[in-house]
Amino acid sequence: MTDDGRRGDALSPEEFARIVRTRSAVRSYAPALIEERVLDDLLDAMLSAPTGSNAQAWSFVVVRDAAALRRLRAFSPGLVGKPPVVVVACVDGSRLDLASHDGAPELCVTMAVNTLLLTAHAYGLGACPVTSFRTGVLRVLLDMPDHIEPVFMVPMGYPAGERHRSKRRPRREVISYDLFGQHTPLAGA
Ligand SMILES: Cc1cc2nc3c(=O)[nH]c(=O)nc-3n(C[C@H](O)[C@H](O)[C@H](O)COP(=O)(O)O)c2cc1C
Repeated sequence: MTDDGRRGDALSPEEFARIVRTRSAVRSYAPALIEERVLDDLLDAMLSAPTGSNAQAWSFVVVRDAAALRRLRAFSPGLVGKPPVVVVACVDGSRLDLASHDGAPELCVTMAVNTLLLTAHAYGLGACPVTSFRTGVLRVLLDMPDHIEPVFMVPMGYPAGERHRSKRRPRREVISYDLFGQHTPLAGA
């Protein structure tokens, strides 16, 4: 343990925040494959995301087959580049009637996708959340039953070239303190 109670081998909060801050959408991928062990780590991290009533009303298809990837790209205008892996993140409608599941299931899938994006970045991979695809065609291509609803595609791979950070709106514009529109924290609060 360190003095502040953290385990000696743990990532510092500052390092973790840097990883979160430096993530950006990557749309150009090197042909290198993602190692099995790394992919397993990413998927495990993804499945640890929060989910309404812990219903885990989600299901994911990991697409790696070259011909299947080509077909996905052909019907997905938002899928740019040639990623070696695409994770298709779906709502599993068969779990929606689980007692007291009150969260919108798409939100749970989104939580999982964001966790995947951040973990991929931490491993030096690039990824991009994609919603511009033809749902009907995707269902047929991946042989999905009716209760499975694709929400996101996440192409992933080692980035080819530089990352481009996109601009964010000024913090002052989007964060209020205590009351909406109060953009400066009150002294002593
Ligand atoms: C709900 C959602 C849908 C998105 N769909 C696409 C998409 O279809 N294709 C794409 O290239 N990027 C897509 N993106 C990525 C955004 O364009 C990207 O996150 C945004 O420009 C901010 O850039 P950054 O992620 O690099 O910070 C999507 C992002 C979100 C959150």
